[in-house]
This record gives sequence, structure tokens and C-alpha cells, in this order.
Amino acid sequence: MKTIDDLDVSGRRVFVRADLNVPLDGGTITDDGRIRAALPTITRLAEAGAKVIVASHLGRPKGSPDPRFSLAPVAGRLGELLGQDVAFASDTVGESAASTVAALAGGQVAVLENLRFNAGETSKDDAERAAFADRLAALADLYVGDGFGAVHRRHASVHDLPARLPHAAGELIATEVGVLRRLTDDVSRPYAVVLGGAKVSDKLGVIEHLLERADRILIGGGMAYTFLKAQGHEVGSSLLQEDQIPAVQGYLKRAEERGVEFVLPVDVVAAAEFPDLGAKTATDPVIVAADAIPAELMGLDIGPRSRELYAARLADAATVFWNGPMGVFEHPDYAEGTRTVAQALTDSSAFTVVGGGDSAAAVRILGFDEKAFGHISTGGGASLEYLEGKTLPGLAALED
Ligand code: 3PG
Repeated sequence: MKTIDDLDVSGRRVFVRADLNVPLDGGTITDDGRIRAALPTITRLAEAGAKVIVASHLGRPKGSPDPRFSLAPVAGRLGELLGQDVAFASDTVGESAASTVAALAGGQVAVLENLRFNAGETSKDDAERAAFADRLAALADLYVGDGFGAVHRRHASVHDLPARLPHAAGELIATEVGVLRRLTDDVSRPYAVVLGGAKVSDKLGVIEHLLERADRILIGGGMAYTFLKAQGHEVGSSLLQEDQIPAVQGYLKRAEERGVEFVLPVDVVAAAEFPDLGAKTATDPVIVAADAIPAELMGLDIGPRSRELYAARLADAATVFWNGPMGVFEHPDYAEGTRTVAQALTDSSAFTVVGGGDSAAAVRILGFDEKAFGHISTGGGASLEYLEGKTLPGLAALED
């Protein structure tokens, strides 16, 4: 994979495909982590005299302009962080984009409107994607792929555009791939993986792959209840994916055969109802044994004995990958399990990686210092698919 060092960017129009898909509350950015993560590449290109054209998706608009998903607030925040004016084009391949790019001098930066306002970006039809990629290619001389969070998407700007321009990987992609390699090749052991989140079905591929590689797999979050049920326990009204029970039983058996330790909750924090995440009013949680959850209760976090157990199973690990919260961390009554895992990672001398998405958000919402982790990925889905051993379209497109 080429890097920016391999491109002569001075005075040239460089299209940077970033992932600036940040959470917005109205027009306010609630977490600018992804914009900050894009700065090294943008700064480097601007300092080298490139005319920098930054493009991204935001949210999931349906292929036409939708003001709720405009990148305008992102362009504003990028300008603040760069300490320079950032131009904003109100379309992607229309007149505004053409004139905005034409007006750029070397060292200046422009942001295009949301790529997903054009149906060609995400189309499953190769010709439709190609037509959009052709129009994007006309805006630039060179392409830098740096949107790690979107490399698992076969989208026009991620997969089709690099084939049309001399291309290289940006700094963020280089960093993220470097970290993920440390989790796949030559891993320091013991290698512990913590998986949480709501659905087992989202994690099937990665569990399958990790059964061959990890030493321990710790399970929390909503998906833990399908594991408990697969072991023959009643889980009350907890989240359950009945149809996944046979797959989970297969994993438990294979883990035993291979000597991979599966760590499941031994107790849970449960309540009769799912808490109100908006009002966050106090609920009435009880601690129950994981093999005896009463029929009328649902598990919403791992319990205190489980927290101790999980912290202990992480304490002597040399490598830890974590994806997915242990409970409903957005509510203070059910945040302790997730807090315990985050704390164990920050206390540990292991190489620790937080795999994007909800766990990265949890780390920030619970007030942890991001620098205390080895790496916090900007891509939840992308890092999981990398660990599943899949070919990621946005990385394959950057190979020569
Ligand atoms: C993400 O938030 O995981 C990336 O930006 C990809 O977004 P998507 O899931 O809408 O493709």
C-alpha cells in the first residue's frame, strides 16, 4: 500500500476520503473524535501545498439531500481545529463542488457535502457507482483513502474512486491497520477479547475467527443472555436471540476442545423494565445469579461478582481487544460493568484496543482519558470485519 510519501501533492488537487460520520444533536457535534482523527492527513497534505478536498458520508440519508445530515457543521469544526478557513461545497459533484475546488490554492482545504446525498455512492449497481466515481474523479488529481470507519463498505468513494486516480493510504488508515495487524499476526499472549453489545448475530463472524486465535473470550451485554440460555439457564425477559442458540452451543463446544476460555457473567444487574435513557431516573435494580434470573426480570448489566471476575481475567493479559458495552451503560444504574472493563484496560500494561462504535463512545461518556488506552479505533464495523479476516473493499482498493 502506498503512503502519502509516495505522492507528489504540491499544487495538486487531492481527494481525501475521510470518515467524518460524527454524532449530531440537531446541528451540534456531540463527539468530534473522528474529525480530530482526520487531522494528521489533512494537515500534512495542506502543509505540503496540496489543494485538499475532504469528502465523507454522515448518517444514512437515502441518496438525496437531507439537511439533517449536512456536513456543514463538520466543515465548521474542521476549520476551528485546523485554525484556518475551510471552504464548504453545498453539493458533491455539482456546480458548487466544481467552483469550490477551482477556487482552492495550494495549502487550502474544502469539504464537500455528504457523499450519500447522491444515490451512486452506496448503490449496489456497479454501473451507477462507477458513474458517480467518474464524476468525483473529475474533481481531483490524486486520491488519499483515510476513512477507516468506512473501509468495509463497497461504496463509490471508498472502493471505485481509487481505481480512477493515483492513490495512497492516509495516516489514519496506516495507524489503524498497523494496530489491527498486532491483533492478528504475532499476538502477545495471553490474548483476551471482550465482546458485548446487544446481538450475538453481529458478532458471529468475529467469534468464529477468534476461536482460532484468542486465549480468552469474555462475553457481556445483551448477547450474554443467549450464551447463558445456550448453557441451559433461564434468562427471564432478558434480550435473547433464540435462533442463535445452536451456533452459540457450537462455539462453546469448540472453545472447550481448543482450550479457549469463555468467560460468562456469574451474576447480573436486573430490573423489571428497560430504563428510560432520556430521563435517566433512578430505577430499582436487583442483583441476581446468572443461572437463576427470575421470569419477570431482565438482565441489564453484569453484576458485582462478574465485574471482579472480568477484571481478574483481564489483569494478566498481554493483548486485549474490546468491542461492545457490558450493559446499558447510558443509564447510571447499569454502567458499572462497562466502567469496570474500561478501568481494567486503563490499569493494564497490555496492548489494549477499543474497537470503535459503542465501546469507544462509552469510554468517552464515562469520562476515561483516551490516552490511557493503547488505541481507540475510529471504526467499529470496520475493525470487527478486519478481525473476521474479511477482505475490506476500501483497503483492497488501496493495494497496488
Ligand atoms: C460507522 O459509523 O461505523 C461508519 O461511519 C460507517 O457508517 P455506516 O455503517 O453508515 O456505513
